Amino acid sequence: MCGIIGITSNKPVSSAIINSLRKLEYRGYDSAGIATIDNGFINEIKSEGRVDNLEKNLVTKSLKGTLGIGHVRWATHGIPNTVNAHPHSSETVSVVHNGIIENSTILKKLLIKKGHKFKSQTDTEVIVHLITEYLKENNLKDTIIKVLKQLHGSFALGIIFKDQSDLIVGARRGSPLAVGYGPNENYLGSDSYALKSMTNKISYLDDGEFCLLKKNNVEFFNENGIKVNKKVLHVSSQEENYEKGDFKHFMAKEIEEQPITIKNCVKEYIDNINNEINIYNIPWKFDNISSVVLIGCGTAYHSCLMAKYWFEELTSLNVSTDIASEFRYRKNRFKEDTLYIFVSQSGETADTYAALDLCNKNKMKTCSIVNVIESSIARDANFVLPIHCGPEVGVASTKAFLGQMLVLYIFILKISSLTNDLDKKNLTNKIKDLKLLPKLVQETLLTEDKIRMSADTFSEAKGSMFLGRGFSYPIALEGALKLKELSYVHAEGYPAGEMKHGPLALIEDGMPVVVLAPRDNYYKKTISNMQEVIARGAKVLLITNKSTDEVVSENIWQTIEVENSNYDLIPFLLTIPLQKLAYYSALKKGYDIDKPRNLAKSVTVE
Ligand code: M6R
Repeated sequence: MCGIIGITSNKPVSSAIINSLRKLEYRGYDSAGIATIDNGFINEIKSEGRVDNLEKNLVTKSLKGTLGIGHVRWATHGIPNTVNAHPHSSETVSVVHNGIIENSTILKKLLIKKGHKFKSQTDTEVIVHLITEYLKENNLKDTIIKVLKQLHGSFALGIIFKDQSDLIVGARRGSPLAVGYGPNENYLGSDSYALKSMTNKISYLDDGEFCLLKKNNVEFFNENGIKVNKKVLHVSSQEENYEKGDFKHFMAKEIEEQPITIKNCVKEYIDNINNEINIYNIPWKFDNISSVVLIGCGTAYHSCLMAKYWFEELTSLNVSTDIASEFRYRKNRFKEDTLYIFVSQSGETADTYAALDLCNKNKMKTCSIVNVIESSIARDANFVLPIHCGPEVGVASTKAFLGQMLVLYIFILKISSLTNDLDKKNLTNKIKDLKLLPKLVQETLLTEDKIRMSADTFSEAKGSMFLGRGFSYPIALEGALKLKELSYVHAEGYPAGEMKHGPLALIEDGMPVVVLAPRDNYYKKTISNMQEVIARGAKVLLITNKSTDEVVSENIWQTIEVENSNYDLIPFLLTIPLQKLAYYSALKKGYDIDKPRNLAKSVTVE
């Protein structure tokens, strides 16, 4: 994770760096730091915690200089304190880093033998000492080439030198890095989002490349120092001004926004007059595809799992899902007739990107479903389907989850019409139902009061369980992830039928258990599983859909009814109370809802 910014200009840069660091906080918020070159000296200020703390420090100790680098950290090596915060500097060089240097322990030992003294526990500091060491006998460019060859692992780097008042070196292997072009100033950034307030002209470094960035000129090189040409891309200059408004937290806003984000997305993909799906230019023929693999991490993985159920219901394709960090290192037998779908809100998740890259290198058919359209995963897939839900700031994914499921569902409908698995009449009916979804989500949001009451119990629990079958199982996993991520309560999602194979042993008197039992084909089975946990003392919060039939079961602690719809769409509605349950549990505990401990919005390290 971690975010990098660098600016060289003819005016002071510290406040512009701070502004960009704020935009990068979604990548990490353990600590922040900035270094500038001022009259042949490296000046740096670092703070534990948020960029706000760094800014307070800057008020007391001003940082001059027209060239500087900044960093927000998500700790990998060494605890999140000021010493371990980036930049890391020697007298001659200062470095910011995103990624992990896997051979840092070996390099550190060698450098210590040569007399280098280390201040921090980070892997990054070895880069500082290596550069300092190589500079003794090499020019700057050769130093960079030699140092980069010494490093194993993944990195994006920003490097400045005390005697270079107009030079930032950027280098990339694995972790993304962008260059921005401005009037008499140029920029380095982890992504175009960090640079958007300054420029819409962007180039991306490719893997293994480095650049020498000056205020009026940028040169790009491959790992051997051979010059490479770069395209300048024009990204959208629209800065999305996304504020909390009257909401206490971004997450609360993002939950409430879902009827609108779903409506917008449906509008993008559905032709309202003809009830047709507006997905054109698919670069492959489905006659040649017999399998689909869906890949993601965390919440995005849960939307993949959800899609598996829809794929199986609506098409005759073979479908499997994979967690990106597993997929990328497993022995994969790539086959031409397989379509690989990558799901990611940020489009920058390191494992998901690596899995995509692996498929691209093996010449597979790749499609990505992303929120951030200028992201690496969007750029590098053969075909992209955006989820159109606007910025998601809360670390816990909410509206993006619904957006991912929605686009996956629409894509599956499209595929099922192309493969003739679904006839025109059924397709039209499903599209008509889909158009009602925003309203149903809006109405389901009104289950608020009951959820608030239940949240008190969940927030105080030692542990909890989320059970579901079929379409409700991925949603149970997602509900559990939300609760643990926000309220730090142990929560497990399980297929309800699995309980008797072990997890039932965990149930004890008063343990809160969410049971997702909509009136679908699995309903009766799930209700039986619910009775088994109630019999062992569980406090069951049953989430079902509205129906004229009463739930036949005794001793249910709480029941919440979401709106009714066709079975395919019930998962969207079941998700809403679970999002609120997690939100109110964390609120009750006074936790930092938008930035939960130890996490980051965009996971750019593996
Ligand atoms: O940006 P991505 O969708 O690729 O992120 C994947 C996960 O890191 C993310 O969904 C994470 O699990 C969320 N914090 C969960 O709320």
